[in-house]
This record gives sequence, C-alpha cells and structure tokens, in this order.
Amino acid sequence: MTDTPNYGFDTLQIHAGARPDPATGARQTPIYQTTAYVFRDAEHAAALFNLQEVGYIYSRLTNPTVAVLQERVATLEGGVGAVACSSGHAAQIMALFPLMAPGLNVVVSTRLYGGSITQFSQTIKRFGWEAKFVDFDDLDAVAAAIDDNTRAVFCESIANPGGYITDLDAISAISDKAGIPLIVDNTSATPYLCNPIQHGATLVVHSMTKYLTGNGTVTGGIVVDSGKFDWSASDKFPSLSAPEPAYHGLKFHETFGPLAFTFHGIAIGLRDLGMTLNPQAAHYTLMGIETLSLRMERHVENATKIANWLEQHDAVEAVTYAGLDSSPSKSRVARICPKGAGGLFTVSLKGGYDACIKFVDSLEIFSHVANLGDTRSLVIHSASTTHRQLTPEQQTAAGAGPNVVRISIGIENSEDLIADLDQALVKANS
Ligand SMILES: Cc1ncc(COP(=O)(O)O)c(C=O)c1O
Repeated sequence: MTDTPNYGFDTLQIHAGARPDPATGARQTPIYQTTAYVFRDAEHAAALFNLQEVGYIYSRLTNPTVAVLQERVATLEGGVGAVACSSGHAAQIMALFPLMAPGLNVVVSTRLYGGSITQFSQTIKRFGWEAKFVDFDDLDAVAAAIDDNTRAVFCESIANPGGYITDLDAISAISDKAGIPLIVDNTSATPYLCNPIQHGATLVVHSMTKYLTGNGTVTGGIVVDSGKFDWSASDKFPSLSAPEPAYHGLKFHETFGPLAFTFHGIAIGLRDLGMTLNPQAAHYTLMGIETLSLRMERHVENATKIANWLEQHDAVEAVTYAGLDSSPSKSRVARICPKGAGGLFTVSLKGGYDACIKFVDSLEIFSHVANLGDTRSLVIHSASTTHRQLTPEQQTAAGAGPNVVRISIGIENSEDLIADLDQALVKANS
C-alpha cells in the first residue's frame, strides 16, 4: 500500500509502504538480500546516478526491504520521507550532518539518554560541532542559547530514563522563531503515543532498537523528515539550499522540494557515512511495527499499574512515571502523548546505591540489561552502567542518580511483574 487515504494507525502499521511482491506475489515483504541491482541499460544507470529516476543502485544507499520500512515509519510519524540507519546513534548523526559544519552548534536538552549526552558533549566535538545543554523547562534559557551559529534544537519527547515529557509546542515555537529546525528523538514514546511533527518538529529520530522492533533483536535507527522546513529561507543550510559540492553542484531543496532532506540523507549521508541499515534488520523491524499499537497499549497499562503500586511501597522513595498524578509532567500527557506516558520510568530506593544493586540482582522476570522497549520487562542501574561516564551532576540532571533504577515495563502479566518486584524489594532491604 503506497497510497494511504485516511487509514487508522492500526491499519497503517501493517500496510503502509508495503504491497505484494511484484515479482512473486509474496504477501510478506521479502528480505532483498542483495548488494547491487542490475541496470536495464547504460541510460537507466546514468538516470539513477543523476537522481533523475528513483530506483536501486547499491544497498549502502537503498534497498527494497529498507525502503518499505522507511515509508512505513514516515507514514506513522506523518512525515514525507525517512532514512533508515544502522542505529539510533547513527540516526542522530545523520539528522545533524546536512545542517552542521565546523564552528556550528546545536542546542540540546539536559534530559537525554546518557549515551546521547556523551555523543553530544564529547564525540561531535571531533567534527568541530558543539552542543549547548539547556534545561528545556526554562524557555528563556533555550531562546537565549540559540545564537547565529545554531543550526538545530534537539530533545526527546518522553525523555529516557522516563518520567519527563518535553513541552514540544513551546520548544518548536522558539526554534520556529529562530528559523532553525527542531529534531525530536521519539524513541521512548513511539509514533503511537506521540507525533512530534504535529507539535512542530522538523525531523524525528528513533532508535528502532527499542519499541519499534520491540523484541530486542535489532540495532537500528531512522530519521523522519516532516517536509515542512523551508531550507532556502536563510543562508544557514547551504548543503540543502545551495549547490552541493558533494553531488556535482545539485541544489537539493530546489530539485526535490519537501523531500530535499531525505534525498540528501540517502544520496550523500548514507553514500559517504555508510551508516546503513541492513535488510534483515529492516525485516525484523517491519515485523515488530505490525503490532506496535497493541504492545504500546499494554506497556502503558502495565506501567501505570506498576508505577502506582511502587509509589506506595515502603522501600521506595520516588517513582518518576509521567502518568502518575504526582508527576510534574502529568499535565503534558494529554497534550503531547494522549494515548499514555509510555512504559519507561525510574524508581529511587530509600536504601540508596547498595539497595539498587541488590534489587537488580534479585529480580527474576525482569532482566538487568542495557536496553529498553522490549516485550520483556527490563531494568538497569544507570549510574553504574549506561550513565557511568557522566559526572554526578550530569547523572542527576539526566534522572540517573546513584539510588535510581530505570525500569522498562514489558507486556507480561502485571500481577507477575508486581510479585517479582515485591520479592526483590524485600531482598534489597534485608
Ligand atoms: C532515547 C534514545 N535515543 C537514542 C538511543 C541510541 O540508540 P541505539 O542504541 O540504537 O544507537 C537510545 C538507546 O538507548 C535511546 O534510549
């Protein structure tokens, strides 16, 4: 299905981008496990390389299985196109790549996945890019951080490790006024719970490793383009608005209009950075997305029940789930993610660091792993693992202090999960 007239989410998550295989009639999207594609003739090859005809050349750039996934996620997010990448972190670099150059900066929220904080605060410096970290609840500080060299604003919709929802409407009003794109990492929310483009996002990135695939089998990412940003309104985005030297002077915005960012991402980003998603991974992710809405409903139902139960527990100091009445983000749920606050939150234990270690070691259904968004329930003690490279101040700002455990609630029976948490809390405090 490539035309999608007003179908609902549940229909689109199964059909968008896909149709029976034209060669064999195969109903399920085949895994096109091929590196290259035979040109009809030399003229066809030239037209493909000139981007005058859309088609397949080489799987570092495009692949039919990956193309179905790109169209499916773009449709679910309400975008015009998407570029799949080898991981969520690759997607973040691919989103920034056409916008940035040495000496330029991106204004980012302090409430991000720990790995993203490290990527932005350390690694992108090697490219001559700078990240300015700001509390995104301080709207004046966000506006003040944007200067002549800022080329993007970046945040997460529901921030990992959970419990915080960004006011995307307020942040996009600031980025719009400054004439720069807003990039939203929608990994923890998924397009079922939140549509950042409806709240003003220019680009949406995902770690498809998490809820989109949903079963812990794939490392993948994607950048979705809203198609709404006017790259030619200023001289700030020459890769898209001016002749691009990396593609014999092609003007991407003039040539491809709303698809400029997507074409640039494939023709230059994937071609030269090579952060390509392989077709096997695309297939697993397509399988996962078919049940996204069903899984997200159960994640939300279970997380709501369990967060409320944990909040009443004697061993627990606090629970951050944004769906709780006690959460400062509660008032944003109905506006930003109306179908629920996701399946991710943190719990802080009165017993501190030592109790957290005993707690994660005592759980039986929950696995202690560096992942989230699986059908299985998962936990991690962030301060001793994913966030250990950060300073204590950064850990606390990211909601990952020493007495905090991150919980990713799966879709198992909630009674079983509660019983498991209960026995582990007893052991944690013995
Ligand atoms: C919110 C968020 N964004 C990005 C990433 C990075 O994704 P990946 O591990 O697929 O590179 C993660 C990984 O945990 C994440 O939780």
